[in-house]
Amino acid sequence: MPQAPEPVSRNESERVIIFDTTMRDGEQSPGASMSLEEKLELSKILEDMRVDVIEAGFPIASKGDFDAVNQIAQIVTESVVCGLARASQGDIERAGEALRPAKRSRIHTFISTSPVHMKWKLQMEPEQVLDMVARSVAHARNWTDDVEWSAEDATRTERDFLRRCVQAAIKSGATTINIPDTVGYTYPSEYADIFRDLIENVPGADGVIFSTHCHNDLGLAVANSLAGVQGGARQIECAMNGIGERAGNAALEEVVMALKVRGDRLQRYTNIDSTQITRASRYVSAITGFPVQYNKAIVGKNAFAHESGIHQDGMLKNAETYEIMKPEDVGQGATNLVMGKHSGRHAFREKLKSLGYDLGQNALNDAFGRFKDLADRKKHVYDDDIIALVDDALASGADRIQVKSLRVIAGTEGPQEAELTVIIDGVDRSSTATGDGPVDAVFNAIQQVAPHNAMLRLFQVHAVTEGTDAQAQVSVRLEEDGRIATGQAADTDTLTASAKAYINALNNLFARKEKTAPGGRVATRF
Ligand code: KIV
Ligand code: ZN
Repeated sequence: MPQAPEPVSRNESERVIIFDTTMRDGEQSPGASMSLEEKLELSKILEDMRVDVIEAGFPIASKGDFDAVNQIAQIVTESVVCGLARASQGDIERAGEALRPAKRSRIHTFISTSPVHMKWKLQMEPEQVLDMVARSVAHARNWTDDVEWSAEDATRTERDFLRRCVQAAIKSGATTINIPDTVGYTYPSEYADIFRDLIENVPGADGVIFSTHCHNDLGLAVANSLAGVQGGARQIECAMNGIGERAGNAALEEVVMALKVRGDRLQRYTNIDSTQITRASRYVSAITGFPVQYNKAIVGKNAFAHESGIHQDGMLKNAETYEIMKPEDVGQGATNLVMGKHSGRHAFREKLKSLGYDLGQNALNDAFGRFKDLADRKKHVYDDDIIALVDDALASGADRIQVKSLRVIAGTEGPQEAELTVIIDGVDRSSTATGDGPVDAVFNAIQQVAPHNAMLRLFQVHAVTEGTDAQAQVSVRLEEDGRIATGQAADTDTLTASAKAYINALNNLFARKEKTAPGGRVATRF
């Protein structure tokens, strides 16, 4: 259940606006594609979390991006919905069209301002860029009063030129000025200084909101974002689990909790309902197929685990000895109640809630069916089993190809053999294949029922819990023509999990191919 806003009267000028770019910059992570349905669900989760601005996509990039921004604009009522556009009329108009149904819309337009980008990427003179800043912002203002302008590669831009660009954007009507550290190059003290300089020296700076947008190439994205706030920024752009181009963006959960736990240092706060963080993190991990590293701050499996005897002893005496925040603050269930085959639907729903999942009726029925099936095969079903099971259902829910049955002959005498039946668009297809080992046989059988040219780039297995009846969680990454897609699945049978994960990755790859095909959606034929 989302928490009600805290009834504290705080100075609005101390509030940091949280701008989430999981569905735009986050989706630019190689392999992290999300379907339309997943983006709609994620936008509801982000809105429940009270994210101020949701950057829903880059409407000119593809029909899929346009549709996602357009449909999110129809369902989100509390958060501002934002669409990205380069500094061209076509981009801006496409973003304006996509955002038309939004209650509160923002166009985010950007152009590079650093010497290296202007010379090599844009092949433009600085004066031409300056002219485009003014024209693009003015054009975007024809569509909405809320226009954000970004100086791409701002942290490698000559300071005087950056001041002139920011001034031009403000004069043309920009209401938010974003200073991206596009290549993750800046340092906290340097980044803070850029904001101070712009706020002090650019005419009109006091009438706009300055924003951070930090990439994590040197592992400094969160530190730089907070330093930006120290320098006067009032908005932080960030993504769930820190996903984004290359090493990713500043992680939303980290900036939010740093401001919640140590807001005293900066005299700043956010409106975010932090109890929704775990739910959002798990959902993003499930739909992108990007596992969250165990020791990841705030949302990692070990973020609240205490292993050493000394720490455990301290925790039993008083949790404050080793915990600077409570697991409940970020929506982690306080208990790890074991469920079994006698647990009913009500207990299951309550368990899901405590784990941060709020499923619709159909998804709940599906998850409950899977849970019963798992409980028949496994004596104790732990929280991690349920998380793997629900994530698996969410990841594969809209898949065109589904595994129906699998039989594998394995052992010391090769060749190993797999008999597979899948359902493709409602029709059964079967094949039998051999391979160098059972996994190879399974993947060869998949190749026969759904021919494709993708290369296997990653095959990873880990046990969800302890014991020989533990579920295996498998991640698969495929690559075809530079497109990367990942898939995940969990099952007590490692080979079934492998088949399902491969097929989930294949489905994601086909979806990505269709989305980026010239001329729009073209379904892959089998
Ligand atoms: O990193 C970057 O510069 C961006 C811009 C489009 C804001 O993502
Ligand atoms: Zn970026």
